[in-house]
Amino acid sequence: MKRKWVLAGMAILAVCALLAAGAKAQASGTPHAGPSAPAGEKKAEEQFKNIQVLKGVPAEQIFPTMQFITASLGVECDFCHVQGAFEKDEKKTKQTARKMMEMMFAINKDNFEGHRDVTCYSCHRGSAEPVGTPPVMTDEPKGAMGGPKKPEGETKEYSGPSPDQLLEKYLQAVGGAAAVDKVTSRVMTGAIEFSGKSLPIDIYSKDADKRISFTHMPEGDNVTAFNGHEGWLGAPGRPLREMHGSDLDGAAIDADLHLPTHLRNMFIDMRGRGTEKIDNREAYVVTGFREGKPPILLSFDEQSGLLVRLVRFGETALGQMPTQIDYADYRDAGGVKIPYRWTLARPGGRFTIQVSEVKENVPVDDAKFVKPAAPPEPPKPPAK
Ligand code: HEC
Ligand code: HEC
Repeated sequence: MKRKWVLAGMAILAVCALLAAGAKAQASGTPHAGPSAPAGEKKAEEQFKNIQVLKGVPAEQIFPTMQFITASLGVECDFCHVQGAFEKDEKKTKQTARKMMEMMFAINKDNFEGHRDVTCYSCHRGSAEPVGTPPVMTDEPKGAMGGPKKPEGETKEYSGPSPDQLLEKYLQAVGGAAAVDKVTSRVMTGAIEFSGKSLPIDIYSKDADKRISFTHMPEGDNVTAFNGHEGWLGAPGRPLREMHGSDLDGAAIDADLHLPTHLRNMFIDMRGRGTEKIDNREAYVVTGFREGKPPILLSFDEQSGLLVRLVRFGETALGQMPTQIDYADYRDAGGVKIPYRWTLARPGGRFTIQVSEVKENVPVDDAKFVKPAAPPEPPKPPAK
């Protein structure tokens, strides 16, 4: 049932939300066990009933943290939780998980100067039972294809163009700053594909920072919206869900109509990282560091200069959750090149949006971006 919920969620997700994660090694270590809630923000133990280890963690990070665990162990919520009563400690696995959190914090404190270098995923690798013995070779070596994927030049000194040059080339490749800034609205129609299904989707963008998408399902529309400061998810028959933390952060990036001109200002520092192969083409990878937020990885096609991949990370109490967006099928839309296809992937799932029609600078009603009134809803486990 959990799986079904996740799949239903996929459609909502047009650009954000709550899938599970597989901890990816962090690009920058956080020098403490888990993030503490800034003053004034609700702490986990104030919102939930039985928090013993994750005390002090922002309440809004509990679900992302749980998704991090789920993805790291390759299990569903009910591996540790009794249905409808997340606070109960009936399952031994939940109690073990608490001990594991303490162990993880201690390992990092004692061995890695408090940097969160070891996470649940380091040992579990998508399985509830970590394997302690290396596997035998069951296949002929596949040469360059085998082994863990890493940007190739990562260990070497980066020798590609400077991040500034890459950003500039990208901006020129899409049509230049003036062309980008001339876009005040965009309406896209197409299809969203996930788990073998395809549903029609309409996406409206306006004012460089507002965006709403409607995925048309037989039972009604799934909505993903960002109005410049608030984000929300709507699904037929379910209460509106507000976006928080990294979901909101991601939604703001996805909503940015002027991303090619805004990228530079997003970062306090940028560093070349190496190259990687995306779709059989070489791309330069750059890390963009942000103030108080996890870094973002950007990959630019070596030839065309276009942005072909963006990886962002959501902070949780135990590790970071990656979201990777691959952009493809760049075409001209009223003087600016934009991707007509993108694939958003997370540890828990993926979907692809293929756009078939784009209209630039057509009127889009402001009313579209007004958040529907909903009774204040304390974040609750998803309805079953
Ligand atoms: C491997 C075990 C494990 C899995 C899988 C897991 N959790 Fe948890 N969950 C815990 C532990 C342990 C705690 C208590 C943390 C603490 O004491 O600080 C917890 C606490 C919670 C709480 C707070 C309950 C309360 O009121 O105190 C919620 C809500 C929750 N989990 C939801 C989920 C959801 C949703 C999923 C699936 C996405 C999930 N969990 C998957 C181990 C797990
Ligand atoms: C240093 C390695 C390591 C880390 C880090 C680690 N685990 Fe484990 N975990 C193990 C090993 C090994 C076992 C199996 C122990 C056994 O077989 O008795 C295990 C077992 C478990 C089990 C019991 C599984 C079962 O089938 O009963 C849970 C639940 C669990 N871990 C959760 C977590 C969570 C959640 C985290 C992150 C907070 C985590 N672990 C981090 C090594 C690790």
